[in-house]
Amino acid sequence: EEIEKGGYDHFMLKEIYEQPRAIKDTYRGRLLAEQGLVKMSGIEQNMEKFLNANRIIIVACGTSWHAGLVAEYIFEDLARIPVEVEYASEFRYRNPVITDKDILIAISQSGETADTLAAIKLAKERGAFVFGVCNVVGSSIARETDAGAYTHAGPEIGVASTKAFTTQITVLTLMALRLAKAKGVFSETKYREHLTELATIPSKVEIALQSNPLIEIIADVYKDSTNCLYLGRGYNFPVALEGALKLKEISYIHAEGYPAAEMKHGPIALIDEHMPVFVIATKKGHYEKVVSNIQEIKSRKGKIIAIVTEGDEQVRDLADHVIEVPETLESLTPLLTTIPLQLISYHIAVMRGCNVDQPRNLAKSVTVE
Ligand code: G6P
Repeated sequence: EEIEKGGYDHFMLKEIYEQPRAIKDTYRGRLLAEQGLVKMSGIEQNMEKFLNANRIIIVACGTSWHAGLVAEYIFEDLARIPVEVEYASEFRYRNPVITDKDILIAISQSGETADTLAAIKLAKERGAFVFGVCNVVGSSIARETDAGAYTHAGPEIGVASTKAFTTQITVLTLMALRLAKAKGVFSETKYREHLTELATIPSKVEIALQSNPLIEIIADVYKDSTNCLYLGRGYNFPVALEGALKLKEISYIHAEGYPAAEMKHGPIALIDEHMPVFVIATKKGHYEKVVSNIQEIKSRKGKIIAIVTEGDEQVRDLADHVIEVPETLESLTPLLTTIPLQLISYHIAVMRGCNVDQPRNLAKSVTVE
């Protein structure tokens, strides 16, 4: 096992650090940025279905569900296809309205999650075309779906999912870009800009990982917290949910993720000097609005740990700590903002003496209901 950990203390840390390579493996052969091409056989072979679809329904559980939420922004924003995202466990028992003009995308690292598999079977029975985004080759979900795309993240051992999440987002981005191109909803310049930028993401993840020593210091400050809040907006709202889930899973600290603008409808009541608030405040998107959320937290004495774009000064003046990530296109920011949140959870869990790779009560793959 020590050899498999490749010199890292835990599989989770190894997998966090593997992300630049995993993302590259995921787009290898699919993203041909210089030629302005995205090649995905599962899409090419079913292009008519995708072009004629009324909507995409995404089903998943846990972290994969968060990747689905990011994909909702990606597909609607880039490819202009309506998307709904569902917990597989809710979808399967809701008697959902499904037609043969619907496409169901099932996202699953393991490809074995019982609820996701059941949702696929139901959608197929009702005539939908089902596309799988799995990491494990030959898994049940990969076999049950009509077509699909593997993430190529390599084996993920840590129960808390890390590289599976970022590679799922990578695949879903490639799909949306391919469909945007086919639908002609993107100008060639915008399309090329996205391809070129996606190709720089692995090196930008490397840069984000360089904040690790700073993140360790921040982890030490907040390791004894009993509650944490995570806020983000737009593309980074699901990243806030995922940040909170990671902390809960491995450090057993209660954490809640929220869309930043919803703070005023509830969570703001919880803010005092004992509440650390992780805020994703990158320059693109709703920056100014998130900055005013930060001011509201500050005036209530909440502790602010902000994830910002490199060179940001406005948030630096307000926040207790800032962690920088490189600048990128708004749709690609989740691939970078999620990195410091993974690391913060990891370090807090280690400092609290938790079993990071095998947290209590959790399983890597949930094959029963
Ligand atoms: C379990 C794991 C999570 C995972 C979820 C969905 O809860 O602990 O890390 O996100 O299942 O798993 P899947 O394999 O379908 O992505």
